[in-house]
Amino acid sequence: AGNKVYRASTTAPVNIAVVKYWGKRDAKLNLPTNSSLSVTLSQADLRTLTTASCSASYSDGDSLMLNGEPSDISGARTQACFRELRARRAALEASNPSLPKLSTLPLKIVSENNFPTAAGLASSAAGFAALVQAIANLYELPDSPSELSLIARQGSGSACRSLFGGYVAWRMGDKEDGSDSMADLVAPASHWPNMRALILVVSAAKKGVSSTSGMQQTVATSGLFQQRIAQVVPANMDLMEQAIKAKDFAKFAEVTMRDSNSFHACCADTYPPIFYMNDVSRAAIRAVESINAKAGRTIAAYTFDAGPNCVVYYLEEDAPTVLGAFAGVLNGVSGWKEDSVSAQSGAKLED
Ligand code: PMV
Repeated sequence: AGNKVYRASTTAPVNIAVVKYWGKRDAKLNLPTNSSLSVTLSQADLRTLTTASCSASYSDGDSLMLNGEPSDISGARTQACFRELRARRAALEASNPSLPKLSTLPLKIVSENNFPTAAGLASSAAGFAALVQAIANLYELPDSPSELSLIARQGSGSACRSLFGGYVAWRMGDKEDGSDSMADLVAPASHWPNMRALILVVSAAKKGVSSTSGMQQTVATSGLFQQRIAQVVPANMDLMEQAIKAKDFAKFAEVTMRDSNSFHACCADTYPPIFYMNDVSRAAIRAVESINAKAGRTIAAYTFDAGPNCVVYYLEEDAPTVLGAFAGVLNGVSGWKEDSVSAQSGAKLED
């Protein structure tokens, strides 16, 4: 079997948090300072496609190609994922000696995003989720999505939520070894299938402050952050789960917007301050407010990750109003054009 190539492929979707993960209590294990909750978007719009293969003929050891370019795999996060997956495969091989010894072969990972990488569009979430799922498929591991989420979390925290479709929580857990810091399904996409996300690409440039260093600085220097993790997030988690269970969009939207504001306020409260949003981002907030004011009810919710791009959640039945209003803004305001905003409209949910 010397030159035999074993291969498996998978896709993983992007998720956009409505209660944000921001802050690590253990940077090595990627253990968060708070729980978080996200909506998984349709793979038709934003996804990573990854193929994992292994072979004794791969003489240069493990490798990763990302969007056609060789990518560094020496980082502790990627190494942790490889190590954990190999250990699980080795355990299978030990209990079933007829299995090929894949755990000892070099791995080749080939990964493609259909959206800009590291622009605050949760590329690391889909990326590490796809990497872990592809290798788990290659190794034919019996692990559940929650068990695989423990591994993906060590690649990138938010990645643990992309092992599931629908509405997904990452429970922070309280164990030191991280064995209870994993994702679970709050509700499948079919529970509330008419949720939509409009992605306003304000800038496709790589983000200025990485999420890892932004979190570190926030934990170290923001006083407001202490209040966020002790009070704001636990309350938002409860309210958000209730809103999703009851399919209450107005409540879902309010908590989404408040939580995004709270996260960016903490970033501004660090020393020196971190600004992820720009003037175009703030114009998007005003546009959502005016859409809701005109409608006389809350039909749209904005949220921003660690970058200027805006994600607007709305329900399918309000699509004409929400998309119509943004079409006007996108065409009419010069500031939008200068920053070359492009809209990726109407991302659906993923099962
Ligand atoms: O998974 P990371 O380390 O890229 O952090 C993601 C942080 C946010 O996107 C801002 C929030 C979240 O919960 O996804």
